[in-house]
Amino acid sequence: MPHILMCPPDFYGIEYEINPWMSRSRQADQPLAVKQWEGLVEILKSLGVKISLLTPQVGLPDLVFTANAALVYKQWAILSHFRYEQRQGEEPICAAWFEANGLTVERLPEGRFFEGAGDALYCGDTLIAGYRIRSDIHAQQLVGQLTDSRVIPLELMDGHYYHLDTCFCPLAPGKAIYFPGAFDDYGRTVLKELVPELIPVAAEEAHSFACNAVVVGSTVITNSGCPNLHRDLASRDFTPIETPLSEFVKAGGSAKCLTLRLDGEEAASWRV
Ligand code: ARG
Repeated sequence: MPHILMCPPDFYGIEYEINPWMSRSRQADQPLAVKQWEGLVEILKSLGVKISLLTPQVGLPDLVFTANAALVYKQWAILSHFRYEQRQGEEPICAAWFEANGLTVERLPEGRFFEGAGDALYCGDTLIAGYRIRSDIHAQQLVGQLTDSRVIPLELMDGHYYHLDTCFCPLAPGKAIYFPGAFDDYGRTVLKELVPELIPVAAEEAHSFACNAVVVGSTVITNSGCPNLHRDLASRDFTPIETPLSEFVKAGGSAKCLTLRLDGEEAASWRV
C-alpha cells in the first residue's frame, strides 16, 4: 500500500516571503486551502494510499509542505536543514514524527542545507539532486554517501523553480516530466541522457506547477491548468488527474510539495 505523510493546513498562510511566489499582500484563503487540501487527500485515498498526518503547529505555516521534511530512503529519514530560519522550526517536529514512526533519522553536519524530497528525487537508482537556491551541493553529495546512491547534481537556474520538485518529476524509472527553462544547458543535456522518456512542459504550465505532480502507480495528480501535459500523459498510458491547489501556489507549492512518500516514490528502484 502506498504510504504518504501530509500535514493539514490548519495554520497555513503567507506569513513571510522566501521565494518569488510568496507575497504577504496576497494572502491565502485559509478555508479554501483546507478544501483544496482535503480534495487532494480524497483523490489519494481513492487510489488506495495510506495517509499519515503531522500535527499542524502555530507559527509554522509551511509545515504543510511535507515533501521538505526529509528524504526517505528505506528505513532512513535524512532530515532537512532549511536554508531560511523561518522554516527551521519544522525540523525537530519532523524528526520527532519520523522517530516515533520507526524511521532512523540521519542529520547532515552543521552548516549544510538540504530540503529533503523537494530537492532530491530518485529516478531508477540515481538520485537527481537540485542545488544552490535551497539545498547545497555538498549536502547533496553527503546524501549520496548516506544512501550509497549515485547523485547527479543539477543547478536550479530560476528563482521561481527553487526546488527540484517544481521543475522535475520522475514518473517511473527512465520516465520523467521536466521544465527545460529551470535548468542550464548542462542540466538539460544530463537529463536527456539519463532519462530516455523525458516529457517537456511549456513555461505556462510549469507556472501552474505541472511538474509538481504526485505519482501513484500510473496516476499523476497535478494542480489544475495543465491540459497539454495531461494530454501528453494520457497518450503515454498514464492517468492524469487535476485538482485545484491555487491557495498553495501562493506559497510556491502544489500537489507534490504537500506529500512525502514514505515507502519510496514510484520511480525509485529501491521502493519497498
Ligand atoms: N513556502 C515554501 C518554501 O518556500 C514552499 C515549499 C514548497 N515545497 C516544495 N517541495 N517545493 O519553502
